[in-house]
Amino acid sequence: MDKIRIVGGNRLEGEVKVSGAKNASLPILAACLLTRGECVLHGIPCLRDVEVMLQVLRSLGARVTWQGSDLVVSAQEVVATEIPESLMRQMRASNLVMGALLGRCGTFKAFTPGGCAIGSRPMDLHLKGFNALGAKINQEYGFIIGEAQRVRGVSIQLDFPSVGATENLMMAATLAEGVTVIRNAAREPEIVDLQNFLRRLGARIWGAGTHEIRIEGVANLGSGEHTVIPDRIETGTFLVAGVLTQGDVLISNAVEEHVESILAKLQEAGAEVSSGKEGVRVRGGCCLKAVDVKTLPYPGFPTDMQPQIVTLLSVANGTSLVTETIFENRFKHIDELRRMGARVRLEGRSVIIYGVPRLTGAIVEASDLRAGAALVLAGLVADGETLVEGTVHIDRGYERLEEKFKQLGADIQRLTK
Ligand code: UD1
Repeated sequence: MDKIRIVGGNRLEGEVKVSGAKNASLPILAACLLTRGECVLHGIPCLRDVEVMLQVLRSLGARVTWQGSDLVVSAQEVVATEIPESLMRQMRASNLVMGALLGRCGTFKAFTPGGCAIGSRPMDLHLKGFNALGAKINQEYGFIIGEAQRVRGVSIQLDFPSVGATENLMMAATLAEGVTVIRNAAREPEIVDLQNFLRRLGARIWGAGTHEIRIEGVANLGSGEHTVIPDRIETGTFLVAGVLTQGDVLISNAVEEHVESILAKLQEAGAEVSSGKEGVRVRGGCCLKAVDVKTLPYPGFPTDMQPQIVTLLSVANGTSLVTETIFENRFKHIDELRRMGARVRLEGRSVIIYGVPRLTGAIVEASDLRAGAALVLAGLVADGETLVEGTVHIDRGYERLEEKFKQLGADIQRLTK
């Protein structure tokens, strides 16, 4: 099993370019199933989660080829409508092909995903929406089966602005008969990117980025080309690294608007933030201040940055309160950070962080993707050597992480054995 070894203490300095967004790439890849045309995608990152999605697409009959760094997907024929159980178990976001399968073929079958390291994560909002669009949903023997004679446009009010449910319903409605309106839709930039891609294929869809998305069903879609947006969570992770190490880091392709909530908290904690044509830049001061953070749907502070900000605040001056409102169990990094000397206490869905002057290197285990990122960040400022195990989780969502940190001056390497 690989490990990441970090010797802490180096100040990070310089420029880095983040990869294309994982969470934009996955629904966009799923949406390729909606067309017989050819989809040419730029900026799809080489990640384990992307590889799983490509396997899902191939298993359903799509041709997928890398041409250099571009990905060409062609789903001339869809030969299966069941998502292989092993792939669904490897990555729950495999469920994003449900909506596309329902739209294109009128049916799908999928293994019911269980809870995961960060929470119970039910699928009820996806299924209620499919049902409203005319699908009969059966859940039996551990599988979910959706079947629709016809997918018909309808008004759907989501109980919560779920990212995955919004994306699945957008895809299911694209080829539906009539008009679909999704109210209380998620507003994440990845939803806007999916809309932009669907439009390139010929879909009639508006409103992504607001709470109301309107989709006028079309009979079929054509070919299209698209570049995915830069990853805002990777951007946030490097911004935190810059501040944490009292460094000076420029993310040359960051979209400022996508990371405003993160920048606001870094500024409140004492960082100097600037942005312009050259990208988004942070400079960390000598003493970080404690701040309170609450995760919320976009444009609020992202849950996918909660573990990383906890690391930052663990060495800030004073007491911070970080409240997690999206995933009830996203705290596995807490015990590991404690092993590194952090003074953190869990109270319900909040973490109370009593800032300490320094962390100390230790052997720690990444339980999930962003918890892993938080531990790598902790290693960058800890005294001595940190070994982060469970890199398989980090590889789900960060492309060439060690290389990029090394480029900024970190003492970091992957140990393969
Ligand atoms: C996506 C992101 C993930 C991010 C999350 C929240 C992808 C591939 N993953 O996950 O990185 O952390 O958004 O920003 O894009 N919920 C229900 N019923 C449902 C669906 C969701 O109760 O049918 C709940 C979930 O349990 C969770 C909350 O809604 O508590 C948010 O989940 P959701 O927005 O759906 O997240 P994902 O799409 O799974």
